[in-house]
Amino acid sequence: MRLIVPLPGNETFARHLAEAGGWELGQIETRRFPDGETYVRILSDVTNRPVDLVCTLVRPDDGFLRLLFAADAVKSLGASKVTLVAPYLAYMRQDRRFLPGEAVTSGTFARLLSSTLDRLVTVDPHLHRYPALSALYTIPAVTLHAAPLLADWIVAEVESPLVIGPDEESEQWASAIASRIGAPHAVLRKIRHGDRHVDVELPDLSQWSERQPVLVDDIASSGHTLIEAARQLPLQGLPPPICAVIHGVFADDSYERLQAVAQRIVSSDSVPHPSNVIPLTPLIASAIASTDAAEENLVRHRRPPEPLDEVERAGIASFPASDPPPWTTGR
Ligand code: R5P
Repeated sequence: MRLIVPLPGNETFARHLAEAGGWELGQIETRRFPDGETYVRILSDVTNRPVDLVCTLVRPDDGFLRLLFAADAVKSLGASKVTLVAPYLAYMRQDRRFLPGEAVTSGTFARLLSSTLDRLVTVDPHLHRYPALSALYTIPAVTLHAAPLLADWIVAEVESPLVIGPDEESEQWASAIASRIGAPHAVLRKIRHGDRHVDVELPDLSQWSERQPVLVDDIASSGHTLIEAARQLPLQGLPPPICAVIHGVFADDSYERLQAVAQRIVSSDSVPHPSNVIPLTPLIASAIASTDAAEENLVRHRRPPEPLDEVERAGIASFPASDPPPWTTGR
């Protein structure tokens, strides 16, 4: 049976995913050694089983090595296939060298993940200059879309909505959501001056002043795009907006600053956050189940379990008590 293994911080999402798919929830132990290095131990039996590591990649730098170690450990212990379920995929925005000498981190990140995992499942990655994840990732990547879920939330919760995309890039989500719920939509124009400085220009929205504006976007990262858009809408006589995003990253104090100018803020649970109201696990579980069925007859060449080394064969207890190896202490 498929095993769902949460990396730290992803326990709730992994439990919901396992429940939604009727799969087993696996266990992993991780900690830091006193010198700051990472310890990883897979506690569940992974032999000959498909294993899904659940690890959303918000603020990825702290846990990235841990994820790679876990993926490599699961493979070396004989898992038949190792999938990364990352509801939010990081390092999608530095996809070119904007200034001489810059690292193109989206490519490096994709190569590192592709070298360690067999498959990636994610939701609405920030594809801007790349047409699809296959342009970056060399492993199969399943890209899921949460806009229909946002639309269903809006139609259930908001009376007479006006769907608004805060910039040209969000046109794709705004128009898809609006057409699904039969509401009008508008798109604003954004000029970005830096990581934390954007200007937003509004078209004439006065004909919609009786409607409830709903700002929709794929991501609230620094939050400045939504804060600036939300700040401007009442200047045209519209009520404070509801903000609905797929990935609520909300760096620094941006959530509090957006709360000050918005009527309500909601997000999917791709990033754990108080604004989460839209669960993604049913979508992800059904995608995994259907790709499982499609791949049932494929022949795979998997890495065989590695033989036990001398220490593992002898057992840790065989070390002389006067000279314990350093990894037996330090909890
Ligand atoms: C456009 O580039 C995206 O769809 C988002 O609008 C943008 O990434 C949000 O970034 P921030 O929250 O930092 O303004």
